[in-house]
Amino acid sequence: MSEENRFIDRYRTGNTPWAHTHPDFNLTETIKQRQIEPCKVFEPGCGLGVESIWLAQQGFEVTASDISGLAIEKAHELAGPLAKKMKWVVMDLMTDDLPEEEYDFVFDRGVFHTFDTHPERSLLARKLAFSLRENGLWLSLAGNKDGVAERTGPPLRTASDIVLAVDPYFEIISLEVSVFGNEEANPHKIWRCLMKKRK
Ligand SMILES: C[S@@+](CC[C@H](N)C(=O)[O-])C[C@H]1O[C@@H](n2cnc3c(N)ncnc32)[C@H](O)[C@@H]1O
Repeated sequence: MSEENRFIDRYRTGNTPWAHTHPDFNLTETIKQRQIEPCKVFEPGCGLGVESIWLAQQGFEVTASDISGLAIEKAHELAGPLAKKMKWVVMDLMTDDLPEEEYDFVFDRGVFHTFDTHPERSLLARKLAFSLRENGLWLSLAGNKDGVAERTGPPLRTASDIVLAVDPYFEIISLEVSVFGNEEANPHKIWRCLMKKRK
């Protein structure tokens, strides 16, 4: 089974250990600390949409997308009446086109890190930069290689995995060690990387 179909299948069987209830503090903190005002935001691989919904509640104009139609269906339901103010897209980030210079902010939680090879990560970085406007920001939360490897845990990436893929397209504003914001007692160690599209 391809990696893409594996994700679709995991939503079907409920094998989604990344599912969480509250918006990740790494996002809410960054929005506050960096004073990111409501703008046009794209969340690739939004899963059940917790962060997209939170962003829409803050007044952001949100496009939430995932390769799993079922995830988008569930996220739409979770958003309640807010859902109709949001844009929902089922797409494959590797093969589908993204609109040019459409967004001011991209947020991904555990999506960039799912791609195992440098060419895939590089392609994603290039596509996200293409889709951001001048000075657009991308906040990525990615499993950290210095964390504990677990069969059901996130893929673990090194700082250089991230830097090598994004550096041609993005200026790194900060690359910090953090943990996933979720309801777990011992959340996985992550990289919290905030980037600005290069001119
Ligand atoms: C680890 S989950 C994270 C989900 C969500 N961001 C969260 O934190 O709960 C990765 C997500 O990326 C989606 N995904 C994986 N490969 C994708 C692709 N090629 N195109 C679009 N979405 C993809 C999966 O369906 C899944 O929802």
